[in-house]
Amino acid sequence: MQDVLIGKINCKDAKIVVIGMGYVGLPLAVELAQSGFTVVGVDISERAVARINAGDSHVGDVSSERLGRLVRAGKLRATTDYAAVAEADAISICVPTPLTKTKDPDISYITAAVDGLLPYVHVGQLIVLESTTYPGTTEELIAERFEKEKGLKVGENVFVAFSPERVDPGNPTWNTKNTPKVVGGVTPACAEVARSLYATALDKVHMVGSAREAETVKLLENTFRAVNIGLVNEFMLMCDRLEIDVWNVIDAASTKPFGFMPFYPGPGIGGHCIPLDPLYLSWKAKAVDFYNRFIELATDINGNMPRFVLQRLADLLNDREKPLKGSRILILGMAYKANIADLRESPGLELYRLLRQKGCWVEFHDPHATSFVSLLGKTVLSTPLESGVLETFDAALLVTDHQAFDYAGIAQEARLVLDCRNAFAKRGVSGPNIVKL
Ligand SMILES: NC(=O)c1ccc[n+]([C@@H]2O[C@H](COP(=O)([O-])OP(=O)(O)OC[C@H]3O[C@@H](n4cnc5c(N)ncnc54)[C@H](O)[C@@H]3O)[C@@H](O)[C@H]2O)c1
Repeated sequence: MQDVLIGKINCKDAKIVVIGMGYVGLPLAVELAQSGFTVVGVDISERAVARINAGDSHVGDVSSERLGRLVRAGKLRATTDYAAVAEADAISICVPTPLTKTKDPDISYITAAVDGLLPYVHVGQLIVLESTTYPGTTEELIAERFEKEKGLKVGENVFVAFSPERVDPGNPTWNTKNTPKVVGGVTPACAEVARSLYATALDKVHMVGSAREAETVKLLENTFRAVNIGLVNEFMLMCDRLEIDVWNVIDAASTKPFGFMPFYPGPGIGGHCIPLDPLYLSWKAKAVDFYNRFIELATDINGNMPRFVLQRLADLLNDREKPLKGSRILILGMAYKANIADLRESPGLELYRLLRQKGCWVEFHDPHATSFVSLLGKTVLSTPLESGVLETFDAALLVTDHQAFDYAGIAQEARLVLDCRNAFAKRGVSGPNIVKL
């Protein structure tokens, strides 16, 4: 069974289904289709499915031109119908893994995807989970259900593995194809089948000892980032009290050719990974009475950064004899990081909420994320940055350092800018009205 499936994969005869066609699933589906497989994307969003089938990409890292070519060649299509799973040899699950309101893992999307594919799953298939999740998910939510509910034998007649997605949206160098792919199987046979799939389409595959190890790899990577960002944010808070320019300190430390890796302070962390993934790990660890103090501390520090920014802005306005209440504030950049449109967990959204709560008049400008839905369910549109607009605001808050901003122009027009990213100084733009976080 294992050899037959590997044989189909090696000669690209295997049919692939990717479940969840978002930031992770669509680039993966495109890469697999590009390498010669026939791929079907299954998504519950009719809109996403219609756009994919029209060759119109909704994910920044996939061009419509590339997608359209694959769709027209019959190598890639999308559907809302899970029945496509019945025809597949390999299935990859890329659905969201958010947190609940109480910051516990919300694995309901994985459960829903498994519920959807279960009626169609059969012997001879490979199923790989790619969604970031706590160690044990692949075994507990997928392998065990296949055995209990379908009578399948994992590692003998069906193969189950975990392979974390490491996509970095907007990164022009590292993409799904050239970023090494970590793979761990529920059994060694599962690992081997999964390895064969990724090795045919991607540049490098790195095998680990089990699905649980592979799940933990992703959580270490993002915990590393969350903790280091937490460290540098706390460092910035200290430098602020000591009246030391933290940005200069980091730049100088970065000249050390070994043993130092720069991380930068900011208004808080965002995106679907760094704010959430470490909490999947600490949640699981608590079940064995282990408390991840670094994760808790970093979550606390990073989560409170928007409040620090708010206080800094209030102090700056106070110096100008202006109370926060009633001030007109323009947030520059609402996406969670530069040059992309992703708003998920963005600190800009929290700042918008906090400023509104304090009685400010708040607008935002973002050339990529041009609208968002507020907590009250209202669609808020990006304010066009026409000449004279900046002058009408008491302060601009640079939250996201998009390349597209005219930094010199902003410095000239804005009455006051609180720059949370050191974006102006980095570009050699300065002025008495530009203040770094
Ligand atoms: N975005 C990133 O940068 C990134 C990077 C690495 C890992 N990840 C992980 O990858 C996973 C997916 O994240 P994403 O950013 O692609 O999410 P996303 O929200 O962009 O896409 C998820 C897609 O799944 C679809 N979906 C939801 N429930 C479904 C169901 N039951 N059946 C079929 N489709 C369903 C949604 O409609 C959506 O199109 C998450 O676990 C995330 O942590 C994300």
